[in-house]
Amino acid sequence: MDKGSVKLAPSILSADFAHLGEQVAAAERGGANRIHVDIMDGHFVPNISMGAPIVQSLRRVTKLPLEIHMMISDPDSFLDEFVEAGSDSFLVHWEGNNNLHRTVRRIKTLGKGAGVAINPATPAGVLEEILPDLDQVLVMTVNPGFGHQPFIYSTLPKIRHVSQLIARLKRGCELEVDGGIDERTAQLAVAAGANVLVAGSSIFASSAGVSAAMHRLRSAINHEGLILKDLEPSLLKKEVLCNLEW
Ligand code: DX5
Ligand code: ZN
Repeated sequence: MDKGSVKLAPSILSADFAHLGEQVAAAERGGANRIHVDIMDGHFVPNISMGAPIVQSLRRVTKLPLEIHMMISDPDSFLDEFVEAGSDSFLVHWEGNNNLHRTVRRIKTLGKGAGVAINPATPAGVLEEILPDLDQVLVMTVNPGFGHQPFIYSTLPKIRHVSQLIARLKRGCELEVDGGIDERTAQLAVAAGANVLVAGSSIFASSAGVSAAMHRLRSAINHEGLILKDLEPSLLKKEVLCNLEW
């Protein structure tokens, strides 16, 4: 894979909301390709976050695409409101949706990009039938609901599996990862086949500042060779690493 084509999607969940416009502008200067907006309802996940008015405000301050990660029990009921606010694409979860195909069709009918997200315990195989209808797949690399969580390494073989499904069933579909992405785990996720990286705390909570953190993440992805510092020992086992493309 051409590492230069990997897209960065900073998640504003960890941003300073008193300075949201400036933080998003800094992410844009640092090379953000889109802005990832996490919507939580306290029911689908044990946390609440933000709603469509934030998207409306963001729309006024950035031209970057706004992708909406719907961590809510009834995404269908809120699609119109978020489209009206200026959203460009939606990531809806496989878990808990009895009519996923209908939700995806509805998003496409609204003229927006459609992606399906799967949680760490959900196998890649559930995507097989819906994949031809998708623009994106989102593999959660933490359990959804909170920023600042550690990357779950057992999702790496699944990222690889999803990339094989995409190659077979829907070439060009984006493979995005979300959760615990930093300079080191970004390398692993890209080696496994991811081509869009969501990063929240490693960008917006970085002491280096938002723009500098974006540049660091980009250089880590382009870096030749693996940054082995602090790598989980079980990952150093040949059988895990040899399944990734370095
Ligand atoms: C978690 C959200 C993520 C979150 C990632 O449920 O979907 O987008 O912002 O945060 P970090 O990058 O801190 O793990
Ligand atoms: Zn997210």
